[in-house]
Amino acid sequence: MKTISIINGPNLNLLGKREPDIYGSLTFEEYFMELQALFEDKAELHYFQSNSEGALLDYIHKIGFSHDGIVLNGGAYTHTSIAIGDAIKAITTPVIEVHISNVHARESFRHHSYFSAHCAGVLVGLGLKGYELAIRALLD
Ligand code: DQA
Repeated sequence: MKTISIINGPNLNLLGKREPDIYGSLTFEEYFMELQALFEDKAELHYFQSNSEGALLDYIHKIGFSHDGIVLNGGAYTHTSIAIGDAIKAITTPVIEVHISNVHARESFRHHSYFSAHCAGVLVGLGLKGYELAIRALLD
């Protein structure tokens, strides 16, 4: 049984309420229950969300040398946080970066990620399905 952490960054606690045309109408808590049922025999899933960059860094440091994989949607910190990029580089746990929306089809400030170069893979624009596919990739 592998241990995988899903980490969501700022504003992703508003999934279900926030711009549903872009992000859908399901809350992440509802979707996380679906994921837990889907992977119940294969993975122990953990979920952490914070709107604070420091709290995200502390969690990445805490689990980044022991868990088998991280699925990270850093929200807007993806485009601003050199510190989280450095943390992904520093840890030994492989990270897959996920974005619900196709960031490349949106504003140009969303086209650059400080994370991608340090990640094992990147999934964008596949909706919440991206989290499931990232977990599958980490389990393979
Ligand atoms: C996002 C894309 C980011 O640009 C944005 O700031 C988010 C969500 C996504 O999942 O599509 O908060 O990471």
